[in-house]
Amino acid sequence: MHPMLNIAVRAAHHAGDIIMRSSENASSIKVDRKGKNDFVTEVDRFAEREIISILRNAYPDHGILAEESGHHDGDDYTWIIDPLDGTTNFLHGFPQFSVSIALKHKGRLEQAVIYDPLRQETFTATRGGGAMLGNRRIRVTNQKSMKGSLLGTGFPFKNQQHLEAYLGMFSSLFKESAGIRRAGSAALDLAYVAAGRLDGFWEIGLQPWDMAAGVLLIREAGGIVTDFDNGGTYLESGNLIAANTKMRQIIHNAIRPHMTDALLPGGS
Ligand code: IPD
Ligand code: CA
Ligand code: CA
Repeated sequence: MHPMLNIAVRAAHHAGDIIMRSSENASSIKVDRKGKNDFVTEVDRFAEREIISILRNAYPDHGILAEESGHHDGDDYTWIIDPLDGTTNFLHGFPQFSVSIALKHKGRLEQAVIYDPLRQETFTATRGGGAMLGNRRIRVTNQKSMKGSLLGTGFPFKNQQHLEAYLGMFSSLFKESAGIRRAGSAALDLAYVAAGRLDGFWEIGLQPWDMAAGVLLIREAGGIVTDFDNGGTYLESGNLIAANTKMRQIIHNAIRPHMTDALLPGGS
């Protein structure tokens, strides 16, 4: 394993331990509201501090973009961190959440880890080195049509101005696919696309820390990720489609009629 990935995995596992220990006393966890339907707990903050301390200890010059503490300047390397993806699930004791850490170097994603502390599943990728679940190589599915496919998504609960467009997309895909799951941790959903557990995924309004590690995992698992205009601006727009090449095109074609200008690159 690449030494930088090794450190990232260690940091993700430590954060996962914090999350699991805290879930035993969930009722006493202090919660703050960041915005509409957007919560942060002391667990998110504590897990993030632990991740940053492990990464900074190994690589003191690297920069950081972390959900709860923002930007910390550094050299050409930037760690992109979501210490707890699926906070709403965590708060409700709904067992689906993860830790997501990616490393970008000069604008290119190089390393990724997504850790599910409940199932103790560790998804990793290094650019050019493939994607793994534990010690096993993972691949996206070979699904070639909507018929029989299982898709993942996230609801635009923080971006409700897009609800109508989203419901149009949902309706088109719902009618054609075998099922759609909204599990509540976008990072884990993307890891599941990489692992062939989902045939595709789309969501509106994600943040870089929700996506970065999952994007590299999917690429290294033979899949493809785009924005809503077949381009590469998803880290900026937050609007993303991920699948194998064929399924991504099929999903894109199905949701295209429902796209508003605001959902296309340059929109807001
Ligand atoms: C959220 C989860 C969720 C997605 C939201 C994200 P958080 O992250 O990934 O699945 O639908 O858009 O914000 O806030 O739990 O880290
Ligand atoms: Ca998140
Ligand atoms: Ca989070």
